[in-house]
Order: sequence, then structure tokens, then C-alpha cells
Amino acid sequence: MWKPPERIKYQTTVERWPTAEEAQGSRLYSRLSAPNLDLAQRTWVPAMVPWRASGDGDVTQDVIDWYARFAHGKPGAIVVEATGIRDIPSGPLLRISDDRYVAGLRRLTDAVREASDGQTRLLIQLIDFLTIRRRPQPDAFFNRFLEVTAAHRQRLGMVRESEQAIRAQLLTLTDAELENVLSPRELEALRQGYRERVTDMHLPAIAELPVNLPILFSQAASRAQAAGFDGIELHYAHAYTMASFLSATNTRADGYGGGREQRVRLPLEVYAAVRAAVGDDYAVGCRFLSDEIIATGSDVDDACFFAGEFARAGMDFLSLSRGGKFDDAKQPKVGWAAYPYTGRSGYECMPAYLSDEQGPWGRNTEPVAMVRRAIRDAGLTTPVILAGGIHSFEQAESLLTEGKADVVGFARQALADPDWFEKVRLGFGDEVLLCRYSNYCEGLDQKHKQVTCELWDREALDAPDAVLASDGKRRLTAPSWHPKRA
Ligand SMILES: Cc1cc2nc3c(=O)[nH]c(=O)nc-3n(C[C@H](O)[C@H](O)[C@H](O)COP(=O)(O)O)c2cc1C
Ligand code: SF4
Repeated sequence: MWKPPERIKYQTTVERWPTAEEAQGSRLYSRLSAPNLDLAQRTWVPAMVPWRASGDGDVTQDVIDWYARFAHGKPGAIVVEATGIRDIPSGPLLRISDDRYVAGLRRLTDAVREASDGQTRLLIQLIDFLTIRRRPQPDAFFNRFLEVTAAHRQRLGMVRESEQAIRAQLLTLTDAELENVLSPRELEALRQGYRERVTDMHLPAIAELPVNLPILFSQAASRAQAAGFDGIELHYAHAYTMASFLSATNTRADGYGGGREQRVRLPLEVYAAVRAAVGDDYAVGCRFLSDEIIATGSDVDDACFFAGEFARAGMDFLSLSRGGKFDDAKQPKVGWAAYPYTGRSGYECMPAYLSDEQGPWGRNTEPVAMVRRAIRDAGLTTPVILAGGIHSFEQAESLLTEGKADVVGFARQALADPDWFEKVRLGFGDEVLLCRYSNYCEGLDQKHKQVTCELWDREALDAPDAVLASDGKRRLTAPSWHPKRA
């Protein structure tokens, strides 16, 4: 992952935790009673892919155990990982792309309800993503994948030679020479791996996204409702299809790109289709970016505009993330796909302990506060969820009392210690395992390995509740918590 050049080392510490009385009288532990979103406390576990689904995208016992473990901590809400809406093979990524997935998802919602004693609301994040291929071996790229064109022939001065001769010649060229022969997209396909974009209007499937996505999202939403989820989070963030429509890099000329009014059009149409499918009394919101953090991307001004459009359209919550784009991703190794959390935008999405003067905590706070202020100034009351480096009670409580957010998201902190919410509520804050922001978990995610936390995955491996990862060396869920003092 990209690291700020300053490389200042930060250590997560908390000077003081609240007493049980202080916690239970706090805003963080107060109820949120918003239309369609009734949370027992203002805490939220944002979506995190743990790579636990079956190869076909089905719920497994490991998926159930993972979310039940979070549910024991009784946060206000948990959002189930990005879940695919297309019925296409996508490895062990959870799917909701057909009715056959509903029974497994129902087992998941039942387990979370039981483990949280009905305290935690369970939402599911619905995702669409475009094709991305692994970085190819150069000989495979030149011999098989590259389509030889007249432009290549001309640039090589080999107008009459056979295609085989052109391919053989291309294989001998240096990097600098290739830059004069291949197009920027071909160079990208060679160096990073081929990646589709929403602007690839020559591809019928891309041109037709505005026709097909509202249908796919709304069918998935109906399944989520049938499976017993309390609501839906539309994934409009990071490197995926819907975020690419919102992006300032979206130059589609079909009315769905260009100005921000056009870029927000499909996200609004998807929302309208989902709302029509699930009815008015069901939680539907989205996750989108406070800033794309790429040179030509959308910024916080755009985010304020999008938030107003989403809130006016009737979304029940707005959850804001930051960065996480392919545009500045590092070059993957041959045989690996690009990962959108390896560049600067990825750092802003999941900041780590090696940082700059600003540090790894709360980097999303001011942009989200601006977005919330913009919609409040427009008279809109939609709850805003903020995440990014939140680990202490004081931090979370001040975000709420200062009116910067309505609900606080704890992603990696909840992964480090799923009992954070109960420990703090009951006055056991000093027993919290604090996230180090090491991004060990994110490294596992990048390799599509079962995600665990380095703070607990080697603990009590022989305990009766320990289920081990496929490498046999790590436990898949945090050990149970038993208070050290009475
Ligand atoms: C292992 C892992 C998987 C993640 N998967 C998702 C995901 O499926 N959808 C999403 O919107 N964000 C995902 N994220 C980003 C988190 O939801 C969150 O925005 C980010 O970690 C910053 O918050 P934090 O500082 O509280 O961890 C993931 C993060 C991690 C560490
Ligand atoms: S591995 Fe654990 S400590 Fe490290 S960033 Fe992830 S959750 Fe935090």
C-alpha cells in the first residue's frame, strides 16, 4: 500500500474510557429513531469483505460465525460485506444474484438477530463491478490477448507483414518503444491488467448499464428483504460501477455522464427501482465517497451535491467513505489483479499507522461534516454515517455532539475487537483491544485470503470455539470475551 512520504509512526492509545454511567448517558449510546432506521445505539460496523463465502458465493457456516461474532458486541447496525448482484462466477464473494441465495442469507439474518438479542440491525451492501483481469505475462498478452490493428502495423512500419510477425516484433520491444506503438488502454492492459470502464461505450454491455442495473439492483433488494435483512446499502463507493458513474472521470455522452446532474442520474434511477421493489417502509441508503482522492476525480463539493440529491430522493441514510480507486492503484505482480487500495486514494480509504502530520485517525471527518452541513442547510434530516480511523469513545462521542455525524462507523476497530460496543457500554473500555491500523487485515483482503486480525488470530488456537483458517494457523473469529474484573 502507498504510504505518505513523511512516514510518521502513530500508536493508538486511549487515555481515558467512560464509566458505564457516562457511556450509557452518552449520545453514542442513545437511540437513533429516523424514518426506517431505528438503531438502539449510534454505532455501525461498515461493510468488510472477509472472504468466507463458498466458491459459488453462498453463505457458509464461516460467514454466519463471522457476523454472529460481531453481533455479540451488539452494535447499532452491521452492514454485511459487498454482495454481488450479478449471477456470474465471482469467487468466494457473497452473492445475492438469484433466488437460490435467499435461504442461506436467511440463516445469516436469523443468526445475527439471535446473537445480538435483537439489538443489532442488519443491512446488506449490494455491489456491481465491471470486468477486471489479472496482469498478463507479456508473451500471453502479445500472442493472445492483444488485437493487432492497422495502427500497430503503421507505427511499427510493418504494414504488409503477417499478424504473427507483428506479435513477435512487439515482444522484442522495450517499455519505451512500446509506448510509441500501443494505445494507453493497451499499455494499461499489459502493465496493470485489462479493466473495463463505464465509458467503454463501444461495448454493448457497458452502453446498456443504465437499462440493466436498476433491474439487477432491485431484484437483489427484493431478495435481501425476503431473506430478513433490515435494510439495504447501495454500494456507490470506491472502485465499482456505481461510483464510476458518480466520478468526475465519467464522460459518457448518453445523458449519464459529464456534469454532475448527469453523473448522479443512474444512481438515482437505481435507487428509485430499489425503492419501488422494497416499498416505502424499508431502509434503503447508500455508501458513497466524500472525495475520490484522484487527480481528476470528484471532490467534497460533488459529494455535497450528491448527498442532497440522494436525501431529496428519499434515501434513509448516507454512509460516507473516501478514496479506494483503481485510477492510482499500484502495478500488480504478473498473475495478480490490480487492487484499488494500493495508491494514495487507497491510503485515504484505510489509513495506516505510518502517516503524515494529520495521522491515520479521522481523516474523513471534516469532509463528512461538510456534507452533513450541506444537507442540513437544505432542510434535509437524513442520518449521516461517518467512518475512518474511529477507535475511542471520546472521538466518536465528539463527532456526534459537534454535529459532524449522526452515527459512527467502526470498521477495523470492530474487526480488532468486536466487543468494543459492549465493553465500552458496560464500563470495560480498558479491556478493549485497540486497532493498531497495521492493515494486516487489508493485506489478507488483497490476496482474497480469509480476513482476520493480528491481535487475536493466534490466540487460544486449541480452544473449543476456535475454527481455523484454511492455512491452519489462524483462528477465524475473535475469542469470546469474559470481563477480567467483576
Ligand atoms: C478487510 C476489509 C474489507 C473491506 N470491505 C469493504 C466492503 O466490502 N465495502 C465497503 O464499502 N468498504 C469495505 N472496507 C472499508 C471499510 O468499510 C472502511 O470504510 C475502512 O476500513 C475505513 O474505516 P476504519 O478506519 O474504521 O477501518 C473494507 C475494509 C477492510 C479492512
Ligand atoms: S489487523 Fe487488526 S490491528 Fe491491524 S488494522 Fe486490521 S483490525 Fe486493526
